Amino acid sequence: MISTILEFVKNPHPSQLISAVKELPTNSKYALLGNTAKILLQQLSKNLQPGSIVVEVGIYLGSSTAILARANPNIEVHSYDLFDDHPYDDIHDQLLATAFGAKKDRSLVNVASLLTQYSNVTLNQVEYLKEPIFDKEIDMFIEDASHCDPQLTNTLEHWIPKIKINGILLIHDYRPWLKEGEHRCFPSVNYHVNRLMKDDNWKFYGEVGSYAVFERIK
Ligand SMILES: C[S@@+](CC[C@H](N)C(=O)[O-])C[C@H]1O[C@@H](n2cnc3c(N)ncnc32)[C@H](O)[C@@H]1O
Repeated sequence: MISTILEFVKNPHPSQLISAVKELPTNSKYALLGNTAKILLQQLSKNLQPGSIVVEVGIYLGSSTAILARANPNIEVHSYDLFDDHPYDDIHDQLLATAFGAKKDRSLVNVASLLTQYSNVTLNQVEYLKEPIFDKEIDMFIEDASHCDPQLTNTLEHWIPKIKINGILLIHDYRPWLKEGEHRCFPSVNYHVNRLMKDDNWKFYGEVGSYAVFERIK
């Protein structure tokens, strides 16, 4: 199933791509993601069974959240973020102004206001390096937070054991073609992707839209 979806995402027929893009939520324009990444989230979400549990860590203005929730209203999307003032992109101020108008910050309440139409979403504010209690097994886990340690190691150690067999793990900002020191090269992301690639509990499907894509196989 994953291979078929990845094939579609990497080489879509133009007419299929047009309908996939039309199905993206309007607030996907605030995503710190490229188009391939958006379509990947949409297609993986769409193919999940009803009742599936998706967890994402790092949501910024909730665009990835909206893409997942809209693609499949029958799944639960549990989203975690610091909801702090740190600018995660060069166009941070511009994105905030467009999303919220003047003088609004990236609080949970303000981000939630962009997601009111998705009743399958739960937003959660976390503190740095304090991992939340979560007692369900996970069908898809998406890591897109600081991409640096100690946060990345902490987050993966906490969440990975909760991923089901045949569950999906996505780690964002994986660009194996970049050299260390280059803009958008994250050594901690590379470290964990290389580690999981060698772990026989995981099948690695490669990089798609700057996500490292894994499936738990045992
Ligand atoms: C690259 S952005 C996420 C982009 C988002 N997925 C999208 O679709 O646009 C990184 C986010 O990770 C959050 N973050 C950073 N450290 C975190 C942590 N320890 N736990 C949860 N979220 C964190 C930041 O607040 C920020 O919103």
